[in-house]
Amino acid sequence: MTDIDHLKALVRSVPDFPVPGILFYDVTTLLKDRKGFATLVDALAEQYVDHNADLVLGIEARGFIFGPALAYRLGAGFVPVRKPGKLPAETIAADYELEYGNNRLEIHTDAVRPGQRVIIVDDLLATGGTAAATVELVTALGGEVIGLGFVIELDFLHGRDKLAGHDVFSLLRYDDTSE
Ligand code: PRP
Ligand code: MG
Repeated sequence: MTDIDHLKALVRSVPDFPVPGILFYDVTTLLKDRKGFATLVDALAEQYVDHNADLVLGIEARGFIFGPALAYRLGAGFVPVRKPGKLPAETIAADYELEYGNNRLEIHTDAVRPGQRVIIVDDLLATGGTAAATVELVTALGGEVIGLGFVIELDFLHGRDKLAGHDVFSLLRYDDTSE
């Protein structure tokens, strides 16, 4: 088994969560596996080790699991991108559509300085709305998005199309809902 197959085998798929018709890829079963978690963080770090990143941005909530581990490995800072009303200082916001609903993301206006090199991290790239909204936030603050890294990508939802022109990396890709 390759490392990728091993990691895929550790992801649990849960039908009809959080709503009927959605097949949920649950990474908690991968996270609790000590070798799986290490392999995962190593693979993300390997992808970005030569990118000279200033910051890793993690998207609430599941991006908070992987972002700080990657930032530590890269010697970069970590910035949380949060759901509305959670950040205490001045923020800017971006609205986005989700596979199942709408939401808004916020970032502190002083979280990214103009010209800083930013990697955006999340557990999952589905329709791409969440990641695209985060790109919008970084760009609005003058940061440079040098990469977007995901643990899982659902190819059949074409989230990549919303991130055209950006370097998108996903560790585990699924091309239909039956895996
Ligand atoms: C999930 C997932 C990604 C996003 C991907 O987050 O963790 O952040 O959806 O979807 P998209 O590509 O279609 O935008 P969710 O907002 O469900 O919440 P959570 O991370 O707080 O659990
Ligand atoms: Mg999320």
